[in-house]
Parts: sequence; C-alpha cells; structure tokens
Amino acid sequence: MSSFAPVYDPTQVLIAPSILSADFAKLGEALQCLEASGADWVHVDVMDGMFVPNLTLGPPIIEALRKHSKLPFDVHLMIEQPDRYLSHFRDAGADVLTVHAEACPHLHRTLTEIRRLGCKAGVSLNPATPVSVLENVLDELDLILVMSVNPGFGGQSFIPNSLKKLAQVKALIADRPIFLEVDGGVSPQNSGAVKAAGANVIVAGSAVFKSKDIPATIRALKNA
Ligand code: DX5
Ligand code: ZN
Repeated sequence: MSSFAPVYDPTQVLIAPSILSADFAKLGEALQCLEASGADWVHVDVMDGMFVPNLTLGPPIIEALRKHSKLPFDVHLMIEQPDRYLSHFRDAGADVLTVHAEACPHLHRTLTEIRRLGCKAGVSLNPATPVSVLENVLDELDLILVMSVNPGFGGQSFIPNSLKKLAQVKALIADRPIFLEVDGGVSPQNSGAVKAAGANVIVAGSAVFKSKDIPATIRALKNA
C-alpha cells in the first residue's frame, strides 16, 4: 500500500495529469517529469476492454510505477466487477480507488470495502448517468468523478452538459469533505469553467502530454 494518501483541502485546486496520454514505453520518466512540473496527483486509467472498448494496464505496472513517484496515485477503474481487484490495486500502491457506478450493483458495499482497504473511495459517473445515484452513498465517499467524455479514450472533446452536471454534484456535496473531479477533454481553455462549476481536481491527459511546456500547462490548468 502507498503512504501518499491525499488530504482534503477545500481551498485547493489539484491537477491530476492522466498518464494515458504519455509514452507507455517511458512511464517512469513521465512520472518524474510530472512531479518536477507541479502536478498534484497522478491519474491512472485502468481499462478492461469490457466496461470500455479499450485495454490499458493493471496492478503490476502500477506497482512498478509506484517506485518512481511520491505523488498520490489516483486510480480510475473503468472495469466490470471491480470488487475482484480492489485489494490488488491497493497492494500495488493506489491511494484513491475510483469505481464506476454503472459497474457496481452493490455500490455501498464496494465503497465500504475501498475504505476498509485504506484507500480513498471514489465513484465515477458516465455522461448519461444521473447524479441521483450518489444520494444514498454520500457518507461512504471521498471523491466524485464526473466524466466529461464517454470513457475509453484520451483526446476526446469536452461534453458541454458536464458543466451543469458538475454544479449539480457540487450542490449535492454541499460542505462535505468530498473531492469533485472532472475527467475528459479538459485543457487550459476550459479549466476556468470547470472550476467555476465546482471541480477541485482536474484530470488532463492530452492537454498535458501533447504540450511543449508541461510545467506551464499545469500552471495554466490550475490558475485559469
Ligand atoms: C478517458 C480517461 C481520461 C483520459 C483523459 O476514459 O478516463 O482520464 O485520459 O484524457 P483527455 O484529457 O485527453 O481527454
Ligand atoms: Zn480517467
């Protein structure tokens, strides 16, 4: 298990670059670059080719990467039946474990188990999923991830309705210590709007890794 668990601070906006857009042959270097560039968390996209039509990486690679970074690992599980693997991801070094509400028929149980394992418990919602699925699990949650694209691939366009959805989730969270994260199509051009809508953790894949000046892009995402 990792010892880099994040602490909630309502005054902070955090940037969590997604290594999905990094060169997979140089992930160790990518992590060192992110740490030197002012990133707050590392967002790790796990895909199983079932819940989403793409395959990425699993616990062995996360475990190997853990040695290359002191930043919290924010692990986004886009997989069916994530309960099968929660302890494996915890052992590999995940700090935040986020499951998809659409993949969890027993969401309350899944979130309780993530916390029992010692990780922060996150729930992600696809663009079509209503915010109301969160109403009965707010006390079991540390993070809500609003998908602003349909999950599966980096480099897609931000879905404008996500701003309304972020505001709805923000209202539901009220003053609870729950991170509100946004993921998909976020760049310095729209990071001001997602923050205004309530997001305080911003995931960005292609905007960071396709940029020529990664520290400047991370600053721009934070300060826009
Ligand atoms: C998409 C992933 C995202 C993705 C974001 O399914 O969950 O984390 O890497 O990439 P960009 O920022 O390029 O949309
Ligand atoms: Zn993601």
